[in-house]
Amino acid sequence: MPCFRHLLGLWLALAVASSSAWAEPKRSAKDELRERRAARPEAHPNTCATCHASLPEAKLRLPAVQYEKSVHKDPRIGCVGCHKGDPEDPTVRAHAAEGFIPRPPHDAVSAICGGCHSDARFIREFNPRLQVDQATLYHLSLHSKLSAAGDRNAPNCADCHGAHDVSRVDALTAPVHPKNVVELCGKCHSDRERMKPYETTTDQVLRWQRSLHAEVFATDQAAAPTCTGCHGAHAGAAAAGSTTHVCGACHEEQLKYVRQSPHAKPFEQLGLSECTPCHDKHEALATRWLVGMAADSACGKCHSLDEKVHTAADEIATLLSGVRERSEAARESLQDARRAGLLIRGAGPILDELRTQELKLRTVVHTVDKNQIRVVARAADEASLQAMRLADQARTDRRVERRGYYFALGLSLLLLLLLAAKAVQLERRRRREA
Ligand code: HEC
Ligand code: HEC
Ligand code: HEC
Ligand code: HEC
Ligand code: HEC
Ligand code: HEC
Ligand code: HEC
Ligand code: HEC
Ligand code: HEC
Repeated sequence: MPCFRHLLGLWLALAVASSSAWAEPKRSAKDELRERRAARPEAHPNTCATCHASLPEAKLRLPAVQYEKSVHKDPRIGCVGCHKGDPEDPTVRAHAAEGFIPRPPHDAVSAICGGCHSDARFIREFNPRLQVDQATLYHLSLHSKLSAAGDRNAPNCADCHGAHDVSRVDALTAPVHPKNVVELCGKCHSDRERMKPYETTTDQVLRWQRSLHAEVFATDQAAAPTCTGCHGAHAGAAAAGSTTHVCGACHEEQLKYVRQSPHAKPFEQLGLSECTPCHDKHEALATRWLVGMAADSACGKCHSLDEKVHTAADEIATLLSGVRERSEAARESLQDARRAGLLIRGAGPILDELRTQELKLRTVVHTVDKNQIRVVARAADEASLQAMRLADQARTDRRVERRGYYFALGLSLLLLLLLAAKAVQLERRRRREA
């Protein structure tokens, strides 16, 4: 067998070698240069950086200073990785080499960054786990289309990552770090002046900050989405369809029920997303006013005339608010009892059950089917009732206990009195006898 395996290995190696020779162009001078620099980095000074670090003019010096700490500081990249030129010439003739790019114009930057970051073979030499799809995704975005057309309001790679101070994306100081990304997007998207030329709003950050997503994100970054959690980092496109299934990735249950509901088909036919017809896309909040036929309810936006749906919506709203009232009353009753120092056994599991049923109710509401909703409402009410009973029971127990306590106290006092009387009697008798 080993012989066969060797043969197989040889055959595979040949196949791979020949196919790569077939698939890839001949190694370029650039490849060879790269390899030479990798093999002996100390022999390849970055004369661009050395000279620029010593220049008095800030705009010429800063790039060299920032580069020192950047993720790109490596002899295989160097200043020439982006600017080209001759990195071994210690004089300004370094600029004279063919292809030198003095100051990349805004619309050319993404091609420079993307050229390298799409080169899987090169990137793999540094970090085999680094994705090489950023440029491909970016080209799908409106950001890219506008930027390539010369619009400096739209971001190129360097507007989000920096040019000379690029750091790893998981560094806390990186502008693209999850903790900083809302600020990054907001720098443009909350800037009215910048957004003036477009027919768009500037309220996304504000709305996001008011959402439950922001609240949850503050304690658990992985659980709730920031801007990139829904839009992606590079394909920041809001074209219909691109965000359709994004909510369901985290809210599976709600998606399931919407798909079972009478809304599934019409929403699809109308090209609507499954969630945003009722919920604000940025201010993820579910308030009690969503359902029903009040002026600003979600249902009222579409069902203004249909009598049958009106009745259904009102009934659902009544079911929900009824459950809310009863559960609040039950919780309050338990709270009062606790504050009065009553010992309540078994309250934990019942409160858990109540919470579960309430959540289930707000989830099953997505069926907009009052029968299904009623079943869960009953279960929630049952839990409220049990909680109420526990509190009442504790109060009754306390009353019985108190009665027993007073009785025992009375009895003890009586006994004491009797004892005292007996003592007096005995004392008298002793005196009389004496
Ligand atoms: C001997 C010092 C020296 C060396 C070496 C040197 N530069 Fe310069 N560089 C300068 C000076 C001085 C200027 C400004 C005057 C000019 O444009 O020639 C400049 C200008 C530039 C600019 C243009 C800035 C602008 O706003 O137009 C870039 C980009 C640049 N250098 C990059 C490089 C790169 C890349 C290398 C290496 C291949 C390099 N430099 C090597 C001194 C140097
Ligand atoms: C990752 C790509 C990249 C690398 C590496 C890089 N640059 Fe740049 N550089 C840019 C881009 C993009 C711009 C234009 C955008 C800007 O002004 O920030 C630029 C602009 C400049 C400018 C003009 C600054 C100005 O304000 O006019 C100078 C000078 C410069 N680079 C020098 C250098 C030197 C020196 C190095 C190496 C120490 C270097 N660059 C490494 C991408 C790079
Ligand atoms: C609108 C801002 C924005 C633009 C434009 C942008 N990026 Fe990013 N990039 C990000 C964010 C945010 C992340 C962090 C990824 C995450 O959290 O999922 C990231 C991550 C990365 C990473 C780390 C690996 C990865 O995919 O997560 C690389 C490499 C990268 N970007 C390169 C590029 C290149 C190259 C371009 C231009 C073609 C570019 N970026 C354009 C925001 C941007
Ligand atoms: C000459 C090739 C080259 C060019 C041009 C280049 N990069 Fe890179 N970049 C790399 C390599 C290689 C790495 C990985 C370095 C490592 O892991 O040590 C990297 C790393 C990064 C990272 C960090 C990814 C991480 O690990 O979190 C970001 C972000 C990034 N580059 C953005 C850019 C941007 C923005 C530009 C253009 C302004 C650019 N790159 C231009 C080669 C390049
Ligand atoms: C340098 C400024 C700038 C930055 C930074 C920026 N954007 Fe944008 N973005 C724009 C401009 C300009 C538009 C085009 C406005 C329009 O037509 O609605 C746009 C459009 C969009 C759109 C709408 C796309 C469409 O197809 O309608 C989305 C979504 C978006 N950006 C998300 C983001 C996210 C997420 C981030 C942060 C990771 C971000 N942007 C960072 C400038 C920026
Ligand atoms: C919970 C998911 C989600 C989050 C988080 C999110 N977005 Fe959106 N965003 C959407 C959806 C959905 C749309 C509408 C897409 C459509 O119409 O197909 C949208 C649309 C947009 C648009 C287009 C203009 C508009 O308002 O309709 C911009 C710009 C935008 N988002 C920026 C941002 C920014 C900046 C952040 C971070 C503060 C952010 N988004 C966070 C889901 C999200
Ligand atoms: C990365 C996961 C994630 C994505 C993507 C996501 N959400 Fe959320 N969402 C959460 C978490 C976590 C919470 C808070 C806990 C909960 O209610 O499940 C939440 C809460 C909500 C709430 C508030 C619930 C309440 O009790 O008030 C609504 C409404 C909501 N999301 C709607 C959406 C919509 C609409 C989208 C898509 C545009 C979306 N979410 C995308 C994770 C996500
Ligand atoms: C027909 C309108 C409608 C649609 C469509 C809709 N919702 Fe809701 N959503 C509601 C109502 C009404 C509530 C309950 C509000 C309350 O608490 O009274 C709710 C509550 C929620 C909650 C909080 C309760 C829970 O289940 O955790 C989340 C999260 C949520 N919706 C997410 C979504 C997502 C994700 C989608 C898309 C798959 C979606 N919703 C589609 C109307 C809708
Ligand atoms: C984006 C518009 C839109 C919103 C918002 C919306 N609906 Fe609908 N709904 C429709 C459409 C379209 C249909 C299917 C056509 C029809 O029967 O009217 C439908 C059907 C229904 C049906 C079934 C009617 C039947 O005849 O069987 C009920 C019940 C219903 N919706 C309740 C609600 C409730 C409750 C809300 C608020 C929580 C709501 N809808 C929000 C558009 C909407």
